[in-house]
Amino acid sequence: MTLYPDPDRRRLLNGAELWPGLLDSDAQQALLEDLRGVVRAAPLVQPVTPGGRKMSVRMTAAGRFGWVSDRQGYRYAERHPSGVAWPPIPRLALEVWRAVSGGARAPECCLVNFYGEGARMGLHQDRDEADFSCPVVSISLGDDGLFRVGGTERGGRTASAWLGSGDVAVLGGPARLAWHGVDRIRFGSSRLLPQGGRINLTLRVVT
Ligand code: SIN
Ligand code: FE2
Repeated sequence: MTLYPDPDRRRLLNGAELWPGLLDSDAQQALLEDLRGVVRAAPLVQPVTPGGRKMSVRMTAAGRFGWVSDRQGYRYAERHPSGVAWPPIPRLALEVWRAVSGGARAPECCLVNFYGEGARMGLHQDRDEADFSCPVVSISLGDDGLFRVGGTERGGRTASAWLGSGDVAVLGGPARLAWHGVDRIRFGSSRLLPQGGRINLTLRVVT
């Protein structure tokens, strides 16, 4: 499958690029099927922040590295907390990267975030990577999520947009270190996941 980003549909949200509907429903189903395999090999875990608070999102990863958080801190790790190596990044996720990353080298991590009912993600920067010239590419599947993006300074003006199933967002260039988060999801708004919920994949170059 080849993805064709339509420049007429591209939108900007405080410098973040949005590609609504880049994945059609067949592509969403195919990617979801691959993710079932990822979650079988590397089960979702509910991480704890270094301060000891449970995150509301459950996470796993694919690729050479996964991003983990526990009482020791945040970091990229070459193994799932169970000790297994992370499974390979799904092929379709790599296709999305090729389509929208502007020629960056291949991603080394595909973080998988699962948002169940009531889950959210507070405003943060993605800054545990070594090379900020490479973008972060995010793929949304399942229920809608209200994505909020600010500037690169904490406390700046923010703007938000709903990301639906198949939408792709890119934090790159001047927006690479933008503060961002997910205020809430509309649980049950999509029928892609039979039990409801939202999946967000973020592809990153780590080293
Ligand atoms: C993230 O910033 O890690 C997740 C963004 C999203 O869920 O859309
Ligand atoms: Fe992030």
